[in-house]
Amino acid sequence: MRATARAQPNIALIKYWGKRDPGRNLPAVGSISITLDELFTEMQVDLDAGEQRDRLLVNGLEDRQMLPRVSRCLDSVGGPGRPAAVVRSTCNFPIAAGLASSAAAFAALVVAADAALAGSRDTAQLASLAGQASGSAARSLYGGFVELTNRDDDISVQRLLAGDGWPLKVVVAITTPSHKAVASGEAMEISRKTSPFFGRWVDQQAADLDEAREAIGARDFARLGAVAEHNCLKMHSVMWASRPPMIYWNSATLACMQVVRDLQSAGVAVFFTIDAGPQLKAVCLPNDEARVREALAATDGVSNVMVSGLGAGARRVNAA
Ligand code: PMV
Repeated sequence: MRATARAQPNIALIKYWGKRDPGRNLPAVGSISITLDELFTEMQVDLDAGEQRDRLLVNGLEDRQMLPRVSRCLDSVGGPGRPAAVVRSTCNFPIAAGLASSAAAFAALVVAADAALAGSRDTAQLASLAGQASGSAARSLYGGFVELTNRDDDISVQRLLAGDGWPLKVVVAITTPSHKAVASGEAMEISRKTSPFFGRWVDQQAADLDEAREAIGARDFARLGAVAEHNCLKMHSVMWASRPPMIYWNSATLACMQVVRDLQSAGVAVFFTIDAGPQLKAVCLPNDEARVREALAATDGVSNVMVSGLGAGARRVNAA
């Protein structure tokens, strides 16, 4: 009745933004991501603790804000009659700052909860349950390059390529460790209801997905970078044109973007992507990692730089 699982965040290269069915948390668009290896979340689910109500401890501190989402996710795995759980989460990177912490957390949670309940769901079923809690979490069930496809009544997630098939590096420039202003779920709904660009965003996604899939298949870095930057800036344009507008960037985010542009002009194989937060993620080839890391670390407003390769999907681990 107790199990621990570990999952890594994933970074979308072709983004999920907008819900087709908010009640069931079904996305309006498909997405393609890479799963990281250095950053991780571990979730321990203990159904034997004798508690009357669920409890959530994040890095040792009681977290009542996230608890309802965690309880709903546990319900979806264990059903209404499940015992109350104590969930202990540890995370080695900033939470809720646009680093996909919820993706890693819910991917690890469904794996740990299923194991604690002696369940036997396969990865596809677990991905579907994680996706109900956080759309991007479904992708962290798999390692390497991952595609999430919309189906009529559910999602399907598949690995396009293992991480060692094209071992890219991701340099994350942390521009502020503070929590994000508007949570992504709420922000997506504002975009769907108010952004004049939302319909076009949805219409164009299939073409961006096709291009990224082909670029990954051909290991064509320049092509992947071009479509990923385009898709990222298009998603942020949808947000900027929403009412109220949602601008997740700060001046350091823009400075980092300029640094990536300068590196590109100097012939470095690198591209950027930015999620619902002010951190910039630079994706590069392994040979260029040191140069990209040094350039971003020296950028005004960058407080910390983290480097990651591509890693595995969510899995059960032995408790520490
Ligand atoms: O899964 P959520 O609700 O945290 O939303 C993720 C949204 C983005 O990170 C901006 C894009 C993505 O595909 O991960």
